[in-house]
Amino acid sequence: MTATLIDGTSIAAEVRAEVGRSRHGDALQAWHRPRTRCRAHRRRPRIRCVCAHEGARRNRGRAWSPRQSLLPADTSQDDALAVVRRLNNDARYHGILVQLPLPDHISEDTVIQSINPNKDVDGLHPFNMGLLMAGRPRFIPATPSGIQQMLLRTGNDPSGKHVVVCGRSNIVGKPIMNLLMQRRDGANATVTVCHTRTRDLAEMTRQADILIAAVGSPQMITADMVSEGVVVIDVGVNRVDAPMLTSTQCRRRQQPSLPVPGGVGPMTIAMLLQNTLNAARHSIHPELQ
Ligand SMILES: NC(=O)c1ccc[n+]([C@@H]2O[C@H](COP(=O)([O-])OP(=O)(O)OC[C@H]3O[C@@H](n4cnc5c(N)ncnc54)[C@H](OP(=O)(O)O)[C@@H]3O)[C@@H](O)[C@H]2O)c1
Repeated sequence: MTATLIDGTSIAAEVRAEVGRSRHGDALQAWHRPRTRCRAHRRRPRIRCVCAHEGARRNRGRAWSPRQSLLPADTSQDDALAVVRRLNNDARYHGILVQLPLPDHISEDTVIQSINPNKDVDGLHPFNMGLLMAGRPRFIPATPSGIQQMLLRTGNDPSGKHVVVCGRSNIVGKPIMNLLMQRRDGANATVTVCHTRTRDLAEMTRQADILIAAVGSPQMITADMVSEGVVVIDVGVNRVDAPMLTSTQCRRRQQPSLPVPGGVGPMTIAMLLQNTLNAARHSIHPELQ
């Protein structure tokens, strides 16, 4: 068996094409029926980003350019909350994405909790996180959702597999754990979550059929920490010359893996668009989950 690189960019293009098609396809045709006279019902699904941190602006700005509310880095928490409240009440936007991280003087929890859960397309509001945990997700956080799609669309169904997740953040680690352990198609994995207090990380990672690394520090997982045939998803966005496992290391270990860039990032954006489509659908047909 030779090593394969999982091409996040082409899978993301596939998802984006599906989202684009459905805008004009059967599902959305229903929105345009004469009984929906309200102009709002004829609008295209739209997302708006709230961005108050130079780094966050740079990260997503290259790959896509949604409408943004750009706040100065020294914006007050009250001003940030006012922007989110305005978007909550603005029927032109079906989805709101608060770009993280926010500046240190703004509480991310407070801002995220102020988003209308029906427009919370990154699924980070506690209400949506609770639904995910209960196995009734409405908006699955975009990065974990992208990871799941990458696994499924490359024939790596996590069902019955041991998935080891390094990292327990609210935006990656916890939601991917909740997502993949559910009793449903595309999940049914046994999930172990590791963090800085995990005693022997290498012992854990070597047991993985699927290893998801979301630790925020480069080259932390080395070739000797994985077993033959493991599928490695590297979520980290680190400004270094090589992803955590170099291609050579991957080849030696004969494992499918993910290049950085061109991996999870494009999938995150694709899933945000998918969630925005769902949010728009839900705003018109709230009875549909
Ligand atoms: N491509 C994308 O779209 C995308 C999206 C989101 C995030 N990311 C990237 O993914 C990475 C992680 O993001 P995040 O927001 O989840 O990060 P985070 O909030 O900084 O969390 C990092 C997690 O890694 C754990 N960790 C750190 N060092 C460790 C070590 N030596 N051993 C074991 N666990 C360790 C931490 O454990 P403790 O909890 O014990 O501190 C923490 O749970 C970052 O590089 C980020 O830029 C990419």
